[in-house]
This record gives sequence, structure tokens and C-alpha cells, in this order.
Amino acid sequence: MNKIHVSASTKEYDVIVGAGLDYGTLLKELHAPCKLMVVSDDTVFSLHGEKAIQSLRDAGFETKQFVFPHGEKSKNLQVAESLMIQMIEEGITKTDLLVALGGGVVGDLTGFAASVFLRGMDFVQLPTTLLAAVDSSVGGKTAVDLPNGKNMVGAFHQPIAVFCDTDKFKTLPKNIYAEGMAESIKYGLIYDAELFEQIKVHEISDADLVKRCVEIKAEVVAKDEFDKGPRHILNFGHTLGHAVETLSEYNIGHGQGVAVGMAVVCAALLSEEETETVLDVLKNNDLPVKTEFDLHELALQAKADKKRHGDLIRVVLPKTIGEVFLKDVTIEEWENIIRKGLESIR
Ligand SMILES: NC(=O)c1ccc[n+]([C@@H]2O[C@H](COP(=O)([O-])OP(=O)(O)OC[C@H]3O[C@@H](n4cnc5c(N)ncnc54)[C@H](O)[C@@H]3O)[C@@H](O)[C@H]2O)c1
Ligand SMILES: [Zn+2]
Repeated sequence: MNKIHVSASTKEYDVIVGAGLDYGTLLKELHAPCKLMVVSDDTVFSLHGEKAIQSLRDAGFETKQFVFPHGEKSKNLQVAESLMIQMIEEGITKTDLLVALGGGVVGDLTGFAASVFLRGMDFVQLPTTLLAAVDSSVGGKTAVDLPNGKNMVGAFHQPIAVFCDTDKFKTLPKNIYAEGMAESIKYGLIYDAELFEQIKVHEISDADLVKRCVEIKAEVVAKDEFDKGPRHILNFGHTLGHAVETLSEYNIGHGQGVAVGMAVVCAALLSEEETETVLDVLKNNDLPVKTEFDLHELALQAKADKKRHGDLIRVVLPKTIGEVFLKDVTIEEWENIIRKGLESIR
């Protein structure tokens, strides 16, 4: 079992990573018995809900549950409202806890509800996807989508703990696991050439992978909890990735979009040798490196990016494997970078 400490300015907490974690035992060490509202999606709940609930009950917690249909389409204000209405009906108070059992959709929605219900209550993240484990469950960004924009309504609200049981990944479909690999490869590319190398030669266990990625995320979040500057590096591959996701009407997953986004900026800016290595690592992890979408459309999507200031968008560009830099570019400059990348991948 590994423990990674996160020092955000608004909260200090631990991320526990291991195979076969007993959620109830871990939570009991941290929090007095209370009511838990366990939030999950139908897929995760049918696979892992019963065991999780049993473990929490055995540890003396009273549990209620809210299960919604899986998928990004559920990450909206209506589902958050239904959850909060049920919380009132179940008599959940400020000293109780929300518990997110699932991937990034469950985590973001539950965190959002925790940030606003009764003007804020505590919550725990139990990530069940690799993506949620290495990325969304840590760092305190919570959100729901609006019909015309992803993550448009949200708050910074840190969990009180993250318990990541890597055994849960055993039931993940291959493409969903791959999306988590995209974010893991991202950490290697932006911060840690050694991690990238370990992924390249397949010499890292899930638990060690999550540990290292969470360490990096914790370091970055400690420097810039509210995403004013240094934290922007975590958006590597994301400006183009979001464009691919949006243009596909979310038929292409977040991780797949990010993989394309990283591939294109690497191909535009790194040496031929490094580019080839990056493309190989992505492909070997069942990730795409190309997109069929039109160059101009892809560039224009950046206008909707949350990292836009006036006419400039802030993009994260690679210097070498393990190091990136931030740059404010115009849409035209961005289009040129994408063009160069797309041409060298062909
Ligand atoms: N808050 C942040 O900092 C942050 C960071 C990155 C991504 N995100 C958000 O995370 C979301 C994507 O996360 P995700 O990929 O985990 O999506 P997800 O929660 O939709 O999970 C993907 C699919 O896998 C299923 N699933 C989850 N765990 C499973 C398991 N153990 N076995 C079998 N199936 C399982 C789910 O039911 C779902 O269908 C997006 O909404 C994105 O915006 C947030
Ligand atoms: Zn991401």
C-alpha cells in the first residue's frame, strides 16, 4: 500500500493506492461513523457497489446510495440536482460524507455536489478507472457540463481522502484503460522522462504507475491549486484533445483525444527520433495518434478553450521528453503548429 500526501492550500489529505483496499477500514481511521451517500454509475455499481457498501457498513457507517446512468451525458446539473434532492430526503447533513465510487464522471459530479450542498461538505474519492486514479480524483477540480460546454460549471473542492484500489481496473474495458494510459503518458512527457521510459518498456505495475502520477499531480497542485499558471502544464495535449472530443460529439473519449493532442504537438516540435518514440508508446498503449478532423475546425475549437485570454490561447508545448513550456499563441499560430504536426504524422 502506498500513501501520497497532497498539500493543497485549502486541504491536506492522503491518496492511498494499493491492490485490494478495504474502503471501510481506511475510512474508519479517518472519520467518525456517519451517514455516507455513495454515488456511482450503473456499470460501476453493478460490478463493485455491493462489496464497497458492505465494507463501509462493516466499518460502522450507515450507507445510502445514488446510482445514475454511466457516461459523460450524465455529468450535468439535472443529475446533480437529483442527487442533492435525494440527499435531503435521506437526511444527509453537513457532517456526513459523500463518497464517489467510479470514474471521472462520478468523481467530478460528486465533488461538485459536495462543493455546493449546504454550501460545502466533505467527500471521498474511490476512483475505479485508471484515468480517475491518476488524474481526476486528485487535485480538487470538480464540475458538471452544460449542453454547450464541458466542465463549464464547477468549483475547486478537495476531497478529504482518495482510496485507489487498483484491483478495480481488472474489470475495465481495454479502451477505457487506454484512456488512463494517455494521461499517465502525459505525466511522463511533461515532467518525468524516467516514468515515460518505464511505460515505454512496460516495466511498471498499475500501483506504481498511479503512485508516480499522483506524486507528480500533487507536486503541481501544491504549487498552483487554483490553476493560475504552473498547473496549466497538466493540460498538455488537452487543447487539441478537447477539440477532437467536441468535434466527435464525445464519441471519441477524453484520453483518446488527449493522445492525438500530444502526438500532434510532439510531431510539430520534437526531433524526429523523439517523435517516433512518443508515437510508438501511444500506439503500443492502444491509443490513436491521428485524427480525421479538418485542421481549421480543430484550430477554431480552441476559441472555446477555458485557457483563452482575449485573442490568445495558452498552449502547452513539448521541449523534450520530460519537459514542456507554456506559450500564448494566436489561433493562426496554433493552426500552424497543428498543421506541422499533422503533416509529419502522415
Ligand atoms: N477533475 C479533474 O481534474 C479531471 C481530470 C481529468 C478528467 N476529468 C473528467 O473525467 C471524466 C472522464 O473520466 P473517466 O474516463 O473515468 O470516465 P467515466 O467515469 O465515464 O468512466 C468511463 C467508463 O468506464 C466505466 N467504468 C468505471 N470504472 C469501471 C470499472 N472498474 N470496471 C468497468 N467499467 C468501469 C464507467 O461506467 C464508464 O462507462 C470526464 O468527465 C473528464 O472531464 C476530470
Ligand atoms: Zn485529461
